[in-house]
Amino acid sequence: MRKPLIAGNWKMNGSLALLARFDEALADGGPGDGVDVALITPFPYLVPALQTFRERAVGIGAQTLNPAADGALTGEVSGAMLKDCGVQYVLAGHSERRTLFGESDREVRQQVAAALQHELTPILCVGETLEQRDADRVEEVVLSQVAAVLDTLEPGERQRVIIAYEPVWAIGTGRTATPEQAQAVHALIRQRLAEYDSTLASRMRLLYGGSMKPDNAAELLAQPDIDGGLIGGASLKPDDFLSICYAAG
Ligand code: G3P
Repeated sequence: MRKPLIAGNWKMNGSLALLARFDEALADGGPGDGVDVALITPFPYLVPALQTFRERAVGIGAQTLNPAADGALTGEVSGAMLKDCGVQYVLAGHSERRTLFGESDREVRQQVAAALQHELTPILCVGETLEQRDADRVEEVVLSQVAAVLDTLEPGERQRVIIAYEPVWAIGTGRTATPEQAQAVHALIRQRLAEYDSTLASRMRLLYGGSMKPDNAAELLAQPDIDGGLIGGASLKPDDFLSICYAAG
């Protein structure tokens, strides 16, 4: 019922050459209709990526946006600009943005609202640190990040959001959450969604992110509440990324 989505977050990595390698790797047609595939690239590669994949079923996403409409904000990119270029997805609240750039729940909420206003699909990232997990605060932290955004949206807007659960301790560390750990948090998020609306809970796609690789993807993706992946390191290797896509489809 929920079509899986595999999204590759390049972070501040990649090149035109990497786009060309993805294009070659997809020459046989790619994973097909059973899975949605997206690449979330740095800003300079968005338009080249859109051009490279215009004939292919690969959605393109940005890693952040500035919620302001326009103005004297040197270095920033708005939702309107992303939409104008044909971008489909945008991340909001990735833990690297929260910790390294001090983005608060309030800013994340504004980003999600701006994405929705411009008909982009926001991928809201949530997840606990290792200290928070060790202090038994996973539920409190994750659900408060979810509620901080979803509480402020209209029912129709909530339906257009994707959530990615990315435990901070699993990002780029090679230490993946076990399928059981990941499933448990996804189930908690889905239960929280049911408090808004049972249809929302059954339809919203919940992605797992954190050291997902070809050798652990199938088991994670087999969990009932995991509807795809947000892939960092492995999205820089076309063969690895595509084998995760095939595992999902
Ligand atoms: O957004 C993707 C992410 O943070 C996971 O990164 O390298 O652990 O797959 P990685």
